[in-house]
Amino acid sequence: MKLSVSLFVFALLFSFLLATSAHTHENFLQCLTLHSGNDSISKVIYTPSNSSYSFVLKSSIRNTRFSTPSTPKPQVIVTPLGVSQIQETLYCAQKHRIQVRVRSGGHDYEGLSFVSPVPFVILDMINLRNISIDVENNTVWVQSGATLGELYYWIADKSRTLGFPAGVCQTIGVGGHFSGGGYGTLLRKYGLAADNVLDAHLIDVKGRFLDRKSMGEDLFWAIRGGGGASFGVIVSWKIKLVPVPANVTVFTVRKGLEQNATKILHRWQYVAPNIDRDLFIRVLLTGSGSVQYGNRSVHASFNSIYLGGKDKLLPLMQKSFPELGLVSEDCKEMSWIQSILYFAGFQNGQSLEVLLNRTLTVNSYKAKSDYVRQPIPEAALEGIWPRLFDKEAQSSVIILNPYGGRMSEISESATPFPHRAGVIGKIQYLVYWSEEGTAATKKHVRWMRRLYAYMAPYVSNSPREAYLNYRDLDIGKNKKGRRTSVRQASVWGTKYFKNNFKRLVFVKTVFDPTNFFRNEQSIPPLSF
Ligand SMILES: Cc1cc2nc3c(=O)[nH]c(=O)nc-3n(C[C@H](O)[C@H](O)[C@H](O)COP(=O)(O)OP(=O)(O)OC[C@H]3O[C@@H](n4cnc5c(N)ncnc54)[C@H](O)[C@@H]3O)c2cc1C
Ligand SMILES: *[C@@H]1O[C@H](CO)[C@@H](O)[C@H](O)[C@H]1NC(C)=O
Ligand SMILES: *[C@@H]1O[C@H](CO)[C@@H](O)[C@H](O)[C@H]1NC(C)=O
Ligand SMILES: *[C@@H]1O[C@H](CO)[C@@H](O)[C@H](O)[C@H]1NC(C)=O
Ligand SMILES: *[C@@H]1O[C@H](CO)[C@@H](O)[C@H](O)[C@H]1NC(C)=O
Ligand SMILES: *[C@@H]1O[C@H](CO)[C@@H](O)[C@H](O)[C@H]1NC(C)=O
Ligand SMILES: *[C@@H]1O[C@H](CO)[C@@H](O)[C@H](O)[C@H]1NC(C)=O
Ligand SMILES: *[C@@H]1O[C@H](CO)[C@@H](O)[C@H](O)[C@H]1NC(C)=O
Ligand SMILES: *[C@@H]1O[C@H](CO)[C@@H](O)[C@H](O)[C@H]1NC(C)=O
Repeated sequence: MKLSVSLFVFALLFSFLLATSAHTHENFLQCLTLHSGNDSISKVIYTPSNSSYSFVLKSSIRNTRFSTPSTPKPQVIVTPLGVSQIQETLYCAQKHRIQVRVRSGGHDYEGLSFVSPVPFVILDMINLRNISIDVENNTVWVQSGATLGELYYWIADKSRTLGFPAGVCQTIGVGGHFSGGGYGTLLRKYGLAADNVLDAHLIDVKGRFLDRKSMGEDLFWAIRGGGGASFGVIVSWKIKLVPVPANVTVFTVRKGLEQNATKILHRWQYVAPNIDRDLFIRVLLTGSGSVQYGNRSVHASFNSIYLGGKDKLLPLMQKSFPELGLVSEDCKEMSWIQSILYFAGFQNGQSLEVLLNRTLTVNSYKAKSDYVRQPIPEAALEGIWPRLFDKEAQSSVIILNPYGGRMSEISESATPFPHRAGVIGKIQYLVYWSEEGTAATKKHVRWMRRLYAYMAPYVSNSPREAYLNYRDLDIGKNKKGRRTSVRQASVWGTKYFKNNFKRLVFVKTVFDPTNFFRNEQSIPPLSF
């Protein structure tokens, strides 16, 4: 009796919730059509009944872990053509209490730009991707929906000796990337993408269209590393281009365990962050062969770009890093834009047009990040290798990026991104899988968590720093699933931002006191 009553109550409650959410969605759509005036917003609205809804939704999902039948789907996707349609979407979403997730390139590691546990709308910036280059002043206005590939392509179209210090993967969106920091092979010379932003256009919760001057220095500070999603909708960025030589030199030298990989990697920690800032040497630790066939082996690939010719690079390496044994045959000279293709993994001779291709072949993955402030002892490095022999790690990579150079000159509080002086480098751990289902996910995520636990003694602590753009919902998880208070959020907040978290909370409280712009790891306002 008791059971059936509560079942009945539950059913009632459930149908009520369903009705409310369907109602919300309809009112939201009505509101949009009503307020859109003459700009025919219906052409950019997709609901599950539109045949292209699924295509638009999936077009920039970069992790199939968040593209399963049970992944929550948006009630509506809006692909605005201009500022007024963003303002209308924000207005109607607030009026009808529906959450908004903003998506530019869709690369969020935890899918936060296109998945939400509550009814939501995706504001997808795909149609806002103009790139306008001022060759006289070496500046660019780039809209949020543009990809890094598009940006790099059009810069190179204008000049062989201009570049921009941003990420390695060509399909990344500038909306999420710049607002979370954004780094690539030029970081030791020029810092982060966010360090090279001059101005921005943003629409706030009240629908105001703001630029640097009208938003003020606090908000302009917050969106250069604090994540855009907590503060508004970034429409475009003005960036400063940087000089690059007509030819750069690239190389990749691979060392197996039997070739002293561990010793050389250990030495790398002393060399790479301190060497000439024109030289960037990252390391990829990967396995090849398979555990199943008994021919698994692991190696370290030293993957590098030098902003100059090999005539200068070779003596520099001979002097500072002879252990790697770099020889002339390892080196290739090419334009900076060709080096973008090289680092993105394209074969020699691939046409530059691949940078304009927004399609990325994806599978499921889980990633985490760490910062190294003390050299990791050789014995501790030895302990990583057997983990790459685990069968869950068949497709995995650990990437070490050196810091130093320009990164050490910028103060911890200049932007929300605090990982500056004293950082030897950053580690990213990635594990991929193609099997479907939650069992496969659990198995691989558990492997990742074990590796992360193993690394704890050797990486930064108090806080154990992490990179916002490698978002990880494991860190500082609110176990009870409650709403996040400032105190709870400070657990992950200090890992991403150290002391800058406090200023981010302050900015959030001023610009979005009711916490409209939110996700699982957004900055909470005070008194929420
Ligand atoms: C394959 C791959 C390679 C990567 N390589 C690098 C790398 O080399 N260097 C590096 O630094 N990072 C790298 N990243 C991480 C990447 O920088 C972040 O995932 C970044 O946030 C992606 O931006 P996006 O616009 O593509 O993602 P989205 O998923 O669209 O957005 C990410 C976050 O920003 C918010 N957001 C997006 N657009 C806006 C906007 N216009 N206004 C306000 N908020 C917005 C979203 O709501 C979400 O919270 C890589 C990621 C992947 C998947
Ligand atoms: C719609 O267009 C008409 C004619 O072009 C114009 O008179 C009217 O003001 C417009 N309405 C809105 C809401 O923009
Ligand atoms: C989606 O369907 C609605 C209703 O049929 C229509 O008004 C709208 O134009 C469609 N959207 C697109 C992008 O075609
Ligand atoms: C994009 O650029 C083109 C050409 O430069 C211009 O005609 C168009 O108005 C721009 N669109 C937006 C939304 O700024
Ligand atoms: C370059 O900047 C100056 C000063 O801001 C400005 O007056 C000029 O118009 C800019 N050049 C171009 C081509 O926009
Ligand atoms: C490994 O290092 C030792 C010295 O530390 C050296 O004698 C040996 O030749 C190196 N082996 C290879 C393959 O480079
Ligand atoms: C490992 O063995 C399998 C099966 O014999 C073979 O297909 C594969 O190419 C081998 N890989 C390596 C790296 O040796
Ligand atoms: C760049 O390097 C290539 C290969 O070494 C060379 O052929 C070419 O002349 C160089 N170009 C410039 C502009 O220096
Ligand atoms: C774009 O990239 C995808 C994935 O690599 C590929 O399948 C597709 O053929 C490419 N499209 C074009 C036009 O090159």
